[in-house]
Amino acid sequence: MSTLPNTPTTNVRRLFVTTALPYANGPFHIGHIMEYIQADIWVRFQRMQGHEVDFVGADDAHGAPIMLAAEKAGKTPEAFVAGIAAGRKQYLDGFHIAFDNWHSTHSPENVELSQDIYRKLDKAGLIYKKPVEQFYDPVKGMFLADRYIKGECSKCHAKDQYGDACEVCSSVYQPTDLINPFSTLSGAKPELKTSDHYFFRLSDPRCTDFLNEWMANNRLQSQVANKAREWLDGKDDKALGDWDISRDAPYFGIDIPDAPGKYFYVWLDAPIGYLASLKNYCAKRGVDFEALLADPATEQVHFIGKDIIYFHTLFWPAMLKFAGKPYKVPDNVYVHGFITVSGEKMSKSRGTGISPLRYLDIGMNPEWLRYYIAAKLNANVEDVDFNPDDFLARVNSDLIGKYINIASRCAGFIAKRFDGQLLSHEDSNEAGNACIAETQAAATSIAELFEAREFGKALREIMSLADKANVFVDTNKPWEIAKTGQAIDLHRVCTDAIQIFRLLTLYLKPVLPALATRVEQFLNIGPLCWSDAGTLLPAGHRINDYKHLMTRVDAKQLDALFDIDKEPVKVTASTPHPATPAKSGVPVQSSPPHQPSPAIAGEGMISIDDFGKIDLRIAKIVKAEHVEGADKLLKLTLDVGALGTRQVFAGIKSAYDPATLEGRLTVMVANLAPRKMKFGLSEGMVLAASGDVPGLFLLSPDAGAQPGMKVK
Ligand code: 2FM
Ligand code: ZN
Repeated sequence: MSTLPNTPTTNVRRLFVTTALPYANGPFHIGHIMEYIQADIWVRFQRMQGHEVDFVGADDAHGAPIMLAAEKAGKTPEAFVAGIAAGRKQYLDGFHIAFDNWHSTHSPENVELSQDIYRKLDKAGLIYKKPVEQFYDPVKGMFLADRYIKGECSKCHAKDQYGDACEVCSSVYQPTDLINPFSTLSGAKPELKTSDHYFFRLSDPRCTDFLNEWMANNRLQSQVANKAREWLDGKDDKALGDWDISRDAPYFGIDIPDAPGKYFYVWLDAPIGYLASLKNYCAKRGVDFEALLADPATEQVHFIGKDIIYFHTLFWPAMLKFAGKPYKVPDNVYVHGFITVSGEKMSKSRGTGISPLRYLDIGMNPEWLRYYIAAKLNANVEDVDFNPDDFLARVNSDLIGKYINIASRCAGFIAKRFDGQLLSHEDSNEAGNACIAETQAAATSIAELFEAREFGKALREIMSLADKANVFVDTNKPWEIAKTGQAIDLHRVCTDAIQIFRLLTLYLKPVLPALATRVEQFLNIGPLCWSDAGTLLPAGHRINDYKHLMTRVDAKQLDALFDIDKEPVKVTASTPHPATPAKSGVPVQSSPPHQPSPAIAGEGMISIDDFGKIDLRIAKIVKAEHVEGADKLLKLTLDVGALGTRQVFAGIKSAYDPATLEGRLTVMVANLAPRKMKFGLSEGMVLAASGDVPGLFLLSPDAGAQPGMKVK
């Protein structure tokens, strides 16, 4: 086995970079893609600097939710997670996310590393065992996490509340506080049962002293360090306690050594999966994993979302520190915010937002999204909003209107009039020289911004250079020189524009790798790296014919991206015909307005069972608002009693002033699958009557009805 990939010279960095490992219970959502794009841009930039990077990912395969999802799907957990893993490549390739290796926490490497780390922590006196009393499902034969227990809130008596908090009165409690608790897995009444659990002694002064020192080392963003320090100092309600790292069988996880029937809690082996993927990648290349990890020159960098700071800034560094060699503590943990879509929060479990696969399927260019996300990213823990109008404007104006425009206006002249050959840079005039020099001089500051993950600022600087290049072209008007001027002047202006276009391509390459490859082909040059900013194409260099490099975003594509429900809305799931609602009680949903097909006697009849599938509820309109850019819609916030709050977009703008709706009761379909719309998520529909005469008439219950009541 060879030792290390390369012996680093003084300024070549060796980086081990990861992104958070996604649970293997569903496809990637746009939040995953955003994180991967952020890390991928940083990694590509580092490589362009000449640094060595191992960029790895893996599926987070263990835990009770995955075990239960597999059971529901009628598969073994192994087959279930393998199925999810098989779907990853299309997303990663589709968005040009170039992980060097994609592995799984359910792997021999992860078993070996997790057990090794555990044994070393045990040897260091940081593991202990103690009995824990917990709810147990006697039918399922398993201990129940809080999310699998429901019952009646002891404060407000709302039914069907989860074991940790009431969604109606917001009380926080223990599952044992619930009245008439039941297991959501079997419906059985849970029993209290005691079992031994294993704990990692995070409260040990060795751990807390180490973490204090680790955090002080400028490796975390200041907001992240502040939050982590609050936890460490016990100022938060999540006071630092010891960490329960075991789960009882049945559990899909890794065996705890010498503890039959006990498994590591998924969050113990998940981050170890970073190392397992690296180890697997090292074996594929014949590289010594332990030597790579133990080398002080290796930098370990994790990109994560703000929801998992706790695990990555407390448990993870402490585990690595006290496991000792060859493990090393993370050098940096870079935290990003969430992605919102038109200001709406994305939910991990409900998977709202933009479907990345649909984005690709309808032929949208993945580099538009890379550019847009990069343009909105900075080094802080801030949410990034995907706004369709902003997306269209920004991509079209920056990428097409500014950057591509430089080449598309000049390349043709070089091909047609000068046999594809460039003029010597010596022949440039003052304005051309100044523009080229300014573009070259920006290499350092743009590099600093990429290094600091200030991608938005980097792109603004690049676009400001593109603006100047366009002014240069506009002032010199090659299309006019071509008609009436001197050939040498035309050759000079177009050569200078192409030189600048090459430099801008270099700066954009971490963000737009596929486009950069096409430009390299067009310019007839090898792969651009950062030091190439100090050079220019030589006199006589022959470029290839210009081919269209990128198309504009079309508003119709964005409509298609959000218009998931192309089919007419079906009122019942099982009726084979389109819904045929009567003239009263027409469901009013979003744009485009629901178009009932004419009622046909006899056809479209449904059984009482079919009707029973529709969950009709009394809803109180607590807020009604206009929706910017929507002609027909109002955004309603509905209080549905024990079902909580719902947001519905209703096509009733023509009939109602929103102010008059607030406070009134109506009827809603509460179990309609949420629908992604351009303006946000619509979580149901309200019912209104319409007929041959103009007007729309919202249904109202008689006095006495309460939000959340069932309508039958
Ligand atoms: O929150 C999540 O999606 C986890 N699967 C992240 C794990 S990151 C690492 F620890 F593996
Ligand atoms: Zn309550």
